[in-house]
Amino acid sequence: MSYETFYQELHEKLKHVVPEPEISIKAEIAWEINKLKAEKNAVILGHNYMEPALFHSIPDHVGDSLGLSRIAAETDKDVIVFCGVKFMAETAKILNPEKTVLLPAKKAGCSLAESITAQDVRDLRKKFPGVPVVTYVNTYADVKAESDICCTSGNAKAVVESLKTDTVIFLPDEYLAGNVARETGKHIIFPTRKKLADDTLLDAQMIGWHGRCEVHEQFTVKDIQDIRAEYPEVAILAHPECSPEVVAASDFADSTQAMIRYVQESQAPQYLLLTECAMGDNIAAENPDKEMLRLCRVRCPHMNEITLEDTLDSLKNDRYVIEVPEDIRVRAAKAVQRMIEIG
Ligand code: 13P
Ligand code: SF4
Repeated sequence: MSYETFYQELHEKLKHVVPEPEISIKAEIAWEINKLKAEKNAVILGHNYMEPALFHSIPDHVGDSLGLSRIAAETDKDVIVFCGVKFMAETAKILNPEKTVLLPAKKAGCSLAESITAQDVRDLRKKFPGVPVVTYVNTYADVKAESDICCTSGNAKAVVESLKTDTVIFLPDEYLAGNVARETGKHIIFPTRKKLADDTLLDAQMIGWHGRCEVHEQFTVKDIQDIRAEYPEVAILAHPECSPEVVAASDFADSTQAMIRYVQESQAPQYLLLTECAMGDNIAAENPDKEMLRLCRVRCPHMNEITLEDTLDSLKNDRYVIEVPEDIRVRAAKAVQRMIEIG
């Protein structure tokens, strides 16, 4: 394909969501990235939260955490460049120890991943012996290594139900745990670090943790009421990292990929996504016939660390290389593979 055709196609897709001068600048960087990607036998994976110009120009695959983990598990390329956050790149490394995995920004964290340590999980295991530990993929490798099985927002219910035990420890997202408890008919208690030694199991069925996504915790039921007052027919889609009250007041809740599919396959007059804002732009670019409302008070500062400029630099200079110590990787891989096998 010539540069002119590449530019025209990108322009056609982005013209309603990205200003013209920005498309010109970004198309040139994306063109260079794509050439380098082929030279280095690299694959670029892009999470659904990447900004529109990046999302629509350089990834070989886009998707949610589960979909991208599956692709990472199967790729035959030498280098994986992960346009997402650190825990996602780590998951790719866990599944591909022999490949080079690059994260284009040094610091692209996640408030959920920061909320829990491997020692916290060991303490919980001591407190609740024999209770299986389900860990959200939004955690670092050492936390995954202490877990029995991982889950994503797209399969959390299926993972919990697969365990066939009355009680599970579900870490670290308190809201996702609440939403899964609601879906599975379980209920939930929260031991805190301080009170851990005194807590008793009682009749708890899900033992949670007080981690939260700094983006999704900001959406409120009042936001939903205000939008519905103005647009009574709007379809409201919430990510399950939103509070159970917000999820209950919405029309649909599931992973980012399932939200995209919902918009593509339904016919509401307007849609409101309660999630990272770039995803609304990405859907609008692909589906110009759909009216996407915006509630963009907050962006994910971690996802926003990943830019086209940094991705070019990452490929040119092999940075930032993701490493996971082998003893941790082997244990974490078991928890991730168990999740992938569940489907
Ligand atoms: P998904 O797995 O639904 O893409 O979510 C990842 C995430 O970080 C949401 O904030
Ligand atoms: Fe983490 Fe929330 Fe950002 Fe997703 S949106 S990466 S959960 S901080």
